[in-house]
Amino acid sequence: MKKMIVAVLAVTVFAGSACAADVMEMKKGVTFKHEAHAEALKDCKKCHEKIFGGKMEGFGKDFAHKKCKECHSEMKKGPTNCKGCHTK
Ligand code: HEC
Ligand code: HEC
Ligand code: HEC
Repeated sequence: MKKMIVAVLAVTVFAGSACAADVMEMKKGVTFKHEAHAEALKDCKKCHEKIFGGKMEGFGKDFAHKKCKECHSEMKKGPTNCKGCHTK
């Protein structure tokens, strides 16, 4: 029973992510594939404090250079050099 609730919840959460832009154009030519990240990481809380996500307080350069980069180097996936993210 508990398993089923979790499954239903997961489906609801992933369907909910359709509300957020699939691909976000950020400053200085950064393209952030939100949907692809959500699918690859399978956990909104890797980035969001709340399970349903949303706008982040203080999102910007400092967050990006710390959190985005940190995870890429830990997982050895995703760009960690300037040009890998700032493609334009
Ligand atoms: C790899 C990091 C990451 C993951 C994983 C992630 N998000 Fe996000 N999400 C972001 C970033 C960065 C933003 C933009 C924040 C901002 O502009 O304040 C965002 C924005 C959002 C927004 C607001 C979009 C808007 O246009 O206002 C929602 C809603 C959201 N995410 C939901 C989710 C849900 C639901 C999941 C899980 C299925 C998820 N996110 C997974 C990083 C992530
Ligand atoms: C919790 C881990 C995590 C966080 C946080 C994270 N990423 Fe990633 N990112 C990944 C992984 C894993 C991949 C590789 C995905 C793949 O190969 O399928 C990736 C790949 C990428 C890529 C290259 C792949 C492509 O198709 O574009 C870019 C660009 C990128 N991330 C930007 C960002 C930005 C910008 C942020 C912060 C707003 C961010 N990431 C935060 C885990 C993360
Ligand atoms: C993991 C991806 C990633 C890497 C690596 C990265 N950046 Fe960024 N950078 C971002 C994101 C995302 C933003 C903020 C986007 C936003 O606020 O919309 C940003 C913002 C910036 C800004 C501020 C732009 C503004 O107008 O506020 C500068 C300058 C910058 N980066 C330079 C660099 C330099 C130089 C390097 C290499 C030493 C670097 N970045 C590496 C993702 C990255």
